[in-house]
Amino acid sequence: KKYISIGLLGLGTVGSGVVQLIKNHQEELVHQVGCEVKVKSILVRDVEKERDIQIGQTHLTTDPDELLKDPEIDIVIEVIGGIEEAREHIIRALEAKKHVVTANKDLIALYGPELLQKALENNCDLFYEASVAGGIPILRGLSDGLVSDRIQKLMGIVNGTTNYILTKMDEDGLSYETALKEAQELGFAEADPTSDVEGLDAARKMAILARLAFFTNVILEDVEVSGISSVSVEDLNYGKKLGYVMKLIGHAHFENQQLEVSVQPTFLSKSHPLASVKNEYNAIYVNGEAVGETMFYGPGAGSLPTATAVMSDVVAVIKNMRLGVNGKSYVKPRFERVLKTPDQ
Ligand code: NAP
Ligand code: HSE
Repeated sequence: KKYISIGLLGLGTVGSGVVQLIKNHQEELVHQVGCEVKVKSILVRDVEKERDIQIGQTHLTTDPDELLKDPEIDIVIEVIGGIEEAREHIIRALEAKKHVVTANKDLIALYGPELLQKALENNCDLFYEASVAGGIPILRGLSDGLVSDRIQKLMGIVNGTTNYILTKMDEDGLSYETALKEAQELGFAEADPTSDVEGLDAARKMAILARLAFFTNVILEDVEVSGISSVSVEDLNYGKKLGYVMKLIGHAHFENQQLEVSVQPTFLSKSHPLASVKNEYNAIYVNGEAVGETMFYGPGAGSLPTATAVMSDVVAVIKNMRLGVNGKSYVKPRFERVLKTPDQ
C-alpha cells in the first residue's frame, strides 16, 4: 500500500490530538511503517461546529456509513466515547475487515472479551492502549514487557480528573466544584464527569489492567468502588497535618488464585511514591515475582498524550498488516473469575 487510510470516529479532545499528531509527526510514522498515514474521513455529531483544529481536505460527516462502508479505509479509530453506538460501529468495522483502535474504557471494560472475539473471527486487530492511563504505555508494558512474569500486585492512580481535583484542593485550596470545572475545561474529564468522580472510570481501567496482568476475566461488578465526590478541603487539610495526602487508588492483588480489585480514596504517607503524582498525571506500580517493583508514570489524560497511545496502536496494526498477522495477538485468559467473595 502507498498509504494507510484512517476513518476517525470523533473529533473531540482525543480525536483532535490524533489529527494533530498524524500531521506533525508524519515523518516519524513514515519511518516506522514505510508509508504515509492519512485520515480520510471523520465522523462527528455536528459538521457545522466551530473547531480549533485544521483538518484540510479531510471529509467531515455525520453518517457512519461513509467510513464503515468505505473500502479504502483500513483502520477505524473510535474516539466518540459512550457505549452502545461505539460498540455498534466497532462491530460493523470489524465485520467489514477493518482494524480498530479505541480509547474507550467504558466499552472495553464491559464488552472487551466479546469484541476481541469478534476481531479474532475477522482476522482483525482491536487495540485499546489509550483506554488506560492516557499516554502511559501500560497495556503493552503488561501484555508484552512483563508477559513472562507472575504479577502479584498492581496499585495505581488511573484517573487524571480526580487526581487533578485532589491536587488542586490540597495544594491551592480550590473548592471541589472549581477544581472539577478546571479539569473539564482542560479536556481531562469524561463528557459526564460522574464516572470520574464516583470512581467508575478508575474501576473500568482497573478491570482492564487486572485482565491483562492476571489473565482473568474480571468484569466491572467484580471491582469494589468508591469515589471522591464527598471529599472536602477540610478532610485533606486534616490529613495534611498528620503527614498524609489523599489519592484515589486502584488496587488489584492476586494470591492463591484469588483476586481482589478495588478503587477507593486513600490517605498515603507523603513519602509514598504515589503521593508525589500530581494533577492529571497517573502512575501504576506493578509488583511481579521475577521483575520485582516497577512503576509506570506519565500524563493520564489530555489530547496529545492520549493521541500518542492511539497512534502506538495504529503503528502496531500497520506492522501486523505488513506481516499478515492481524488478529493474532489476543492474550487469552488462563483463569476463570477467581475473585474473593466478601466472606472469604
Ligand atoms: P469529546 O471531547 O467529548 O469528543 C467526542 C467526539 O465524538 C466529538 O467530536 C463528537 O462530535 C463526537 N461524537 C460523540 N458522540 C457522537 C455520535 N453519537 N456520533 C458522531 N459523533 C459523535 O471526548 P474525548 O475526551 O475526546 O473522549 C473520547 C474517548 O476517549 C472517550 O471514550 C474517552 O473516555 C476516551 N479518553 C479520553 C481521554 C481524555 O483525556 N479526554 C483520555 C483517554 C481516553 P462533535 O465534535 O460534533 O460534538
Ligand atoms: N476522564 C479520564 C481521566 C480520561 O480523567 O482519567 C482519561 O482516561
